[in-house]
Amino acid sequence: MRGGGAVSAIRYTLTTAKSAGFCFGVDRAVKLVYEALSAGKQVATLGPVVHNDAVVGDLLEKGARIISQVSELREGETLIIRAHGVSRAVYEELRQRGNPVIDATCPFVERIHRIVEEQSAAGREVFIAGDPDHPEVQGIVGFGTGNCTVFRDETELKYLIDRTLPKRLALTAQTTYNKISWADCIKALPADHPDLQIFDTICNATAARQSDADALSRESDLMIVAGGRHSSNTLKLVDVCRRNCPTWHIDDAREMFGLADEISAAAREALAKPQRSDPVLHIGITAGASTPAHIIKEVQTYMSEIIDTNITTPDSEDVSFVDELEKTFKKIRKGDRVKGIVASISGNSEVMVDLGAKQTGYITLSELTSDTSKKPSDLVAVGDELDLVVIQVNDAEGTVQLSKRRVDEMIGFETILKAKEEGTVLEGTIVSVVKGGLIAVTTDGVNVFIPASHSGLRRDADLNVLLKQTVRFKIIDVNEQRRRAVGSIREVADADRKAAEERFWATAKVGDVFTGEVKSLTNYGAFVDLGGIDGMVHVSELSWSRIHQPSDVVAVGDTIEVYIKALNPETRRISLGHRRPEDNPWVKFVQNYAVGDIVDATIVSITAFGAFARITDGIDGLIHISQLSEQRVTNVKDVVKAGDTVTVKITAIDEEKKRISLSIRAALEELGTENAETESEEVVYSDETPADDASDAE
Ligand code: F3S
Repeated sequence: MRGGGAVSAIRYTLTTAKSAGFCFGVDRAVKLVYEALSAGKQVATLGPVVHNDAVVGDLLEKGARIISQVSELREGETLIIRAHGVSRAVYEELRQRGNPVIDATCPFVERIHRIVEEQSAAGREVFIAGDPDHPEVQGIVGFGTGNCTVFRDETELKYLIDRTLPKRLALTAQTTYNKISWADCIKALPADHPDLQIFDTICNATAARQSDADALSRESDLMIVAGGRHSSNTLKLVDVCRRNCPTWHIDDAREMFGLADEISAAAREALAKPQRSDPVLHIGITAGASTPAHIIKEVQTYMSEIIDTNITTPDSEDVSFVDELEKTFKKIRKGDRVKGIVASISGNSEVMVDLGAKQTGYITLSELTSDTSKKPSDLVAVGDELDLVVIQVNDAEGTVQLSKRRVDEMIGFETILKAKEEGTVLEGTIVSVVKGGLIAVTTDGVNVFIPASHSGLRRDADLNVLLKQTVRFKIIDVNEQRRRAVGSIREVADADRKAAEERFWATAKVGDVFTGEVKSLTNYGAFVDLGGIDGMVHVSELSWSRIHQPSDVVAVGDTIEVYIKALNPETRRISLGHRRPEDNPWVKFVQNYAVGDIVDATIVSITAFGAFARITDGIDGLIHISQLSEQRVTNVKDVVKAGDTVTVKITAIDEEKKRISLSIRAALEELGTENAETESEEVVYSDETPADDASDAE
């Protein structure tokens, strides 16, 4: 952004780089510390949370402590891991100590941890472009399981390559690494390396700051870079700017007054250059990712004062610098619809988005979806292009908060309106149970309220059974202004049932076989779902055996095979059979047994006049008291009891009355005769009878 001042002969512009100041990661870390402090927690940070004395001083004043190693933690103290991240060993140490931890590692740094971990595990040696003494780099190295080597620049890389070029190599960089140096390093690598993986992990915020600083310093006569003396990304900005014009690195805006003479002299010198044709003096300002917005504002103010006091005085009609600044900040405005590419996914909470702009875009989980059961990785992947709406622009911090959910809802709501108009059935997932009903999220991401009475469940049913279920519903009411929609699962279920019924009555015929679920039981039968329509199996049709009630043989939820015994289209009654004629035990009995057969049977019950004995499943015959023994019997119980196995002769079968008469006595008589015959035959025909025995017999 450009502002300026003028006197009769000299004009000047004061331009602040479009991306300058707090980056997303630092802003997030600082906010987490303030949040923890205001929640009353005892807070320690592993190193200063940001390379800025003013911010760190304020945090210390509010009670935060800075420690240099985990062992310094006090009991119960919450450790905040700063945006630089830490090594895996530090995580392990923290786990063992058990102190509460707030992990503010920047998602971009986390991505490098993952890359190093995966590449090492894949057997590649990892070269990391960066400062080996920087905590971020030390944390990154701590995620490697194999060889990890850090190099500072192209020269060191060349040296490494010349010494031994790893056969399998992965190259990555510290997030704040200089873009130009990175390009030089890539060029230094052999183009024909057979197994080389290159990961450009330079953070967009850093890259944007560097390229903006580069562009701005190319067209400026002098540059001011604000940021901590130890801030790696600020030092890179200083480097970049110094290649193009005289540059001053300041930690604090007040330092500028000490530099006023130097800056004024450089300004005069630039204007006095003999080959210069442009009469306007151009001053550029940028700031590192750890510089808060108020410091940038102070630099702008002090710089104007220095120029105005030492060189010239701006004309009153000149464009206000602050106004110009504001205009620039509004390039991406709240409410804009933008497209973004997913750059990384941070755990379970955020998605970082490349907007192709200077700012870093991010989407929190709640702005990604309304479905709380989902994780960001369930919904998007790195490289996906997303339609988004801008919900917050923070120019000072260089971030843009975006929402996918709201765009989905806007698009989705059009579908809702159409569905209401056309009576279309929609699909969605039940995401929560709320007072009076359920919330379903459509496939387009729109929330639809489903009243309990429209859930399709019984009145007293627990709505939670539908949680996370995919359901079909119709839109029954829409409030366009408030973007509220009401749906009904019941209407769809009713319509489905009706359609199934019509289909059934149009095609069903006696004898048709179905496999259906038992929906309910009464004393007189079982109701079976035939696919949207219920039919009844009478208790007498459930089993060939004698049963007292349906629950003796089936339970609700059982799947059984049934066939249509009778249909009444007028009353819409369907009578079903479950037992099959071919399984009729009487039919089987008469096919396999006949009068005169001698069989084993089990006594199943005793009466005064005899005992009932079971021959096969479902077939019992009566042994009359007179047939229980060859002797006279006065009390049945004296001879048999339930459970006894007896040998009986079938003496009569009355097919009409389905009665069978049995006799133990007849069986004994017949078997006695047979035994006698067998014994006599054995004497006559035995070839093995000894001679002595034979003579004895004689
Ligand atoms: Fe993260 Fe980039 Fe800042 S890596 S901490 S957003 S400079």
